[in-house]
Amino acid sequence: METFRQHVAEAAAFIGDRLPNQPETGLVLGTGLGGVAEILEETFHFSYGEIPHFPVSTVVSHRGRLLCGKLSGRHVLAMQGRFHLYEGYSPLQISFPIRVMRELGIRRLFLSNAAGGLNPYFRAGDLMLVADHINLTGQNPLVGPNVDDWGPRFPEMVEPYSRPLQELAVMTALEEGILLHRGVFAGVLGPNLETAAETRFLRGMGADAVGMSTVMEVITAVHAGLEVLAISAITNVNLPDCYRPAPVEEIIATAEKTGPRLMQLFRKILEKF
Ligand code: HPA
Repeated sequence: METFRQHVAEAAAFIGDRLPNQPETGLVLGTGLGGVAEILEETFHFSYGEIPHFPVSTVVSHRGRLLCGKLSGRHVLAMQGRFHLYEGYSPLQISFPIRVMRELGIRRLFLSNAAGGLNPYFRAGDLMLVADHINLTGQNPLVGPNVDDWGPRFPEMVEPYSRPLQELAVMTALEEGILLHRGVFAGVLGPNLETAAETRFLRGMGADAVGMSTVMEVITAVHAGLEVLAISAITNVNLPDCYRPAPVEEIIATAEKTGPRLMQLFRKILEKF
């Protein structure tokens, strides 16, 4: 753990030395939001490979750059491309960028992801504000010795997704005329999509959407005392009684279609700080 801590410090120092301003908000941009680079102002970036000890993205649809710049006049750090358990990254590796951004001074974290809808009222292309999650990956980034300077051994999970940020998101969506559902995200390991029986099980246990990302980052962020906001792009809807395949090309295409709407929400929310 001491080595990990050292690596976080070295990565943060590397980035911090080159940052002109103190970032306030971190963004983790999932499938479909890769185009954010075009709307960030005064941007420069690091390839993940340039940053000491940073994991490197293996997913084709994820670009693998840390963007530094301004969004709605706010200084942000944006991860263009993230790491998934199914790629073989450990929970600790997935937590690494969150620890680094925390070390660089961010106070809140916005995440987006692509998710399969389980709630029958959802349609492909809808957005869902994550109100809560169920970690079904069987893994946890906090396993191992606790770094007490980073956060508590047994962190509370009463309100992992900040209430005030959720309220801001709901209000902003109304103002912008964007449909925003609110629901529970089930985080699974993947990489296979769910069976019909698993879909029924997930719905029965109270989940509205299912995806293969986000929960490791959110657990890390909550441990680190960050305020978290997460929005899912519902790329397909899985109904166990008329179950259809969800080809990955369609998932990516639908996520990309939701990208501008999701980014508009993030931008307008940031304007309110
Ligand atoms: N299941 C799991 N992860 C996903 C899905 C799904 O149906 N769609 C997008 N990510």
